[in-house]
Amino acid sequence: MCGIVGYVGEKEAAPLLVEGLKKLEYRGYDSAGMATISEKKVLIEKDVGKIEEVDKKVNFKSMKGKIGLAHSRWATHGDVTKENAHPHTSMKEDISIVHNGIIENFADIKKKVGKEGHTFSSDTDTEAIVHLIAAHHEGNLKEAVLKALNELEGAYALGIISSKEPHTLIAARNESPLIIGVGEGENFIASDVPAILEHTKKIIYLDNGEIGVLTKDNVDIFDLEGNKVEKKIHTIEWTVEKAEKGGFDHFMLKEIFEQPSVISETVEGRISEDSIDLNGKTGFTSEEMKRIKRIIIVACGTSWHAGLVGEFMIEELAKIPVEVEYASEFRYRDPIVEKGTLIIAISQSGETADTLAAIRHAKKKGAKILSIVNVKGSSIARESDIVLYTKAGPEIGVASTKAFTTQLIMLYLMTVEIGHVLGHTNDQQVKNRIRDLRLLPLQIQSMLDERKNVHTLAKKFIEKAHALYLGRGINFPIALEGALKLKEVSYVHAEGYPAAEMKHGPIALIDKNMPVVVIATKDDRTYKKVLSNIQEVKARGGIVIAIASKGDRDIKKCVDYILPVPQNSYILTPLLAVVPLQLFAYYVAVLRKHDPDKPKNLAKSVTVE
Ligand code: F6R
Repeated sequence: MCGIVGYVGEKEAAPLLVEGLKKLEYRGYDSAGMATISEKKVLIEKDVGKIEEVDKKVNFKSMKGKIGLAHSRWATHGDVTKENAHPHTSMKEDISIVHNGIIENFADIKKKVGKEGHTFSSDTDTEAIVHLIAAHHEGNLKEAVLKALNELEGAYALGIISSKEPHTLIAARNESPLIIGVGEGENFIASDVPAILEHTKKIIYLDNGEIGVLTKDNVDIFDLEGNKVEKKIHTIEWTVEKAEKGGFDHFMLKEIFEQPSVISETVEGRISEDSIDLNGKTGFTSEEMKRIKRIIIVACGTSWHAGLVGEFMIEELAKIPVEVEYASEFRYRDPIVEKGTLIIAISQSGETADTLAAIRHAKKKGAKILSIVNVKGSSIARESDIVLYTKAGPEIGVASTKAFTTQLIMLYLMTVEIGHVLGHTNDQQVKNRIRDLRLLPLQIQSMLDERKNVHTLAKKFIEKAHALYLGRGINFPIALEGALKLKEVSYVHAEGYPAAEMKHGPIALIDKNMPVVVIATKDDRTYKKVLSNIQEVKARGGIVIAIASKGDRDIKKCVDYILPVPQNSYILTPLLAVVPLQLFAYYVAVLRKHDPDKPKNLAKSVTVE
């Protein structure tokens, strides 16, 4: 969604805001803008395009002022135009705001302030907010903001400045993420940590219905009645280097390459040679595990695919029935949540609106919520009873890669531990599972070292308009994930299917122009069946790319291309099979001259419905 960054301090705001905004560009990139205050006047520059393009046109850094707001837009209300880009200003041009979210009653507000003579210059819902604040302004910005917020319905993260109070920056939040960075002689607001990480690691997480009043030396938080709220200052562990490209052409590639290390970080401190400890700070105790009778996993997109793999793992090793739901569907159903139902929410950002709404829905029905989340202190984490953090570090590329693999790791750890506690896995089996897990970082690294093969293969497929991805068992979700990666970054239409389902419909599509990617790793369950499915494709002239186990000679005879993956236990094959598919999608995108970090129409955290 949109990205917000704000600054008040002793330095020139503009250079710092541009750099911050670039780090948030993954959230939205159809327009960008900035407001500063200089000589008691609000200065505004904004336009359509990616931040660098807009910067070239308007030269943000030439804007003077030691306080300011910046915004990258992902349009919701109103076309992508200069007028609709943020910041928006009051008619007197003394108040300026940036907004991420959707105001549901904006039409009513527009009507109301319209009657008082306010005229609008954009089609956005956001502009209604700034006019409403202006309408309430009687000399005190904070009071005016509070009055306005009490009339708003919907989601917002807001940054507000006024030339009448040129040393005060106001932040407000309801449902859309916003953090405050506490510095020395300077303070910040941002939609996400990477924007301000270079300047401070001290973070206050604003909660819904809170506003922050920031000057260069002070941060005060209030509720919507104006009562002061005491907030904890958290220290972030992420480093600046982790939020940079570090020599890679794109964040997506860097993040694919980080998988061996983030897997190690995610298991660090949670495993020994023969045991898994998820209790620690999280409180996921053996007693909690014993109470579980049924699990419902809620998630969206790639995280939902992780959930499908989790279903397979949990039913197989922990023998607990699992359902996996799209959070966006679950939230509008009347699901049966009995005693002993555990809801597992999976989310990289921890801010996905549908997943958040799903856990609130389940909570009302009395469910216990466990979340697997990457971003510390995010909304989903804060609203869960138990949080298992993945340690993927900041994921900037819009297409999720390293977050996905760490989600699978966390599901695996959880599954093995529950299975052990419930007596379905003995001590030796736990030891073996940990041994298998420890093999992964090096195995993934070996595939990354062979990336040239994937690049060469991608070259052969850049002209194709469609692709089919097939998998079975635990690798069916990987077929879905491979197809999703390809379509979102390279705009090639791709579909994932259970391999055996192909003959019930999609087989009609197969001809010499249809590449079919088949996950066909060697195992004693479905491998032979997958070989038969491959034969069905070949018999109709399809081109088969097999994700196959290293050294598998049999498969060589019946497919066109092979991307080999190392062998590990069946339950861990998704973590290996997904890597060449991520690389394939990445290379196809780059060869087709698309920017994989900023796929069109997409945003990193989907904080609207
Ligand atoms: C795809 C992708 C999305 C996200 C989805 C959920 O590459 O990244 O499908 O997985 O929007 O996001 P989180 O995990 O942040 O809840």
